[in-house]
Amino acid sequence: MIAVATPSQEDYLEVICRLVQEKGYARVRDIAEALQISLPSVSKMIRRLNQDGLLEVERYRGLTLTAKGLEQGGLLVQRHRIVERFLRNLGVTDEAAVWRDVEGMEHFVGPATLARLNALNAFIEANPSWWRRYLDTASVPDAGRAD
Ligand code: FE2
Repeated sequence: MIAVATPSQEDYLEVICRLVQEKGYARVRDIAEALQISLPSVSKMIRRLNQDGLLEVERYRGLTLTAKGLEQGGLLVQRHRIVERFLRNLGVTDEAAVWRDVEGMEHFVGPATLARLNALNAFIEANPSWWRRYLDTASVPDAGRAD
């Protein structure tokens, strides 16, 4: 569940890409459920994504992404995963907080910052004892709580 107030085109594309990666297609109902949004709103956005050449509507099968949609959506899914890994490395453990914060942050992270976050994740994960020293000295009250 993502539950952003007004999902952006990026949120739709990310969710559709995730569904396509998992099942090979995306259904309107699954998108509506993932974004906590009404079916008519989803249909409206699907028309827009279709006009932008990002997805195709296949009768009886559901939605699939074009090569352009797969490329752009893949980058959005990857961006989500990098920001999510970073928050988990920081010690954020509450699932709702991870989701809410990633969904908020990801739209504002540019490619240069994302590449550096990705490198930092890799460094942290390759040096767990070094990172544990940081986490032990940077104890934050209520770090795991949603609010
Ligand atoms: Fe996301």
